[in-house]
Order: sequence, then C-alpha cells, then structure tokens
Amino acid sequence: MASKSNYNLLFAALLVFIFAAVAAVGNEDCTPWTSTLITPLPSCRNYVEEQACRIEMPGPPYLAKQECCEQLANIPQQCRCQALRYFMGPKSRPDQSGLMELPGCPREVQMNFVPILVTPGYCNLTTVHNTPYCLGMEESQWS
Ligand SMILES: *[C@@H]1O[C@H](CO)[C@@H](O)[C@H](O)[C@H]1NC(C)=O
Repeated sequence: MASKSNYNLLFAALLVFIFAAVAAVGNEDCTPWTSTLITPLPSCRNYVEEQACRIEMPGPPYLAKQECCEQLANIPQQCRCQALRYFMGPKSRPDQSGLMELPGCPREVQMNFVPILVTPGYCNLTTVHNTPYCLGMEESQWS
C-alpha cells in the first residue's frame, strides 16, 4: 500500500518532469501578447502605415519607428514573432488584425512589412530563433 509520502514524492517527481519538459522546448507563455482584446502594438501599426503605405504620421519622422521598436522590445524575445503573427491576424479576418484596411493600401500589403520589423534595418531585435528574424510568418505555417 502506498503511503502519503510516496504520493508526495511521486507528485514532486512529476512536477520536476513537467518543468524540465517546459524548459527544454523554451516554452515561454506568450498568451499575454497574443490574446489581448486591445489593439496589439498600436505604435507598430503607425510605423507599418508610415513605411508600407507612405502615410505621414504626426511628430518627427523617427517617432513611429522608435515607439514601435520600444513596444516590440518590451515583448520577451521568445514571444516576438508570435506577437507579430497575432498583430497581422489571419488574412481572412480583418477584425482580428492590428492592421487596418486602408484606401490604396490593403492590409495584405501591410502584412508583408510586419515580419521585417525585427530585422537589423528596422528594430533589430532577436527573436525565438536567436537572430533578428521571424521565420514561418506565412499563415499556412502558423501553428
Ligand atoms: C543589431 O544589433 C546587434 C546586437 O545588438 C548589433 O551588433 C548590430 O550592430 C545591430 N545592427 C544594426 C544594423 O543596427
């Protein structure tokens, strides 16, 4: 018959196993950056519109970039690409996107610019891949 302490030991071993498994895949919980009901990365929306749509934003020319990069930098490295995918939203669901359909600048054009945000010419921020690039940004590759 198993004693209570044996169960505790088993439980502790199970916890260790779970934590080890989570650490092994670097599975940071990115939920806070991918399930917010408010517009994700509002400053990056401005920056994308400025760059992809050639729309002038209020303030000095570097401001939109600076604010977007700050917001991106505040997202943990492991979650940046995921947050950008969430920011783009599915092609078929404009209501689930942080981007806006604009006259003369469709959301699809803006979506092409989003993965570039982390690259060296723009915010230069490392991602889950340990480089300043997001891979697998095609919607068919989202998991
Ligand atoms: C990007 O960041 C890396 C690491 O901080 C730095 O060495 C590199 O010079 C930066 N590249 C650009 C283009 O700013």
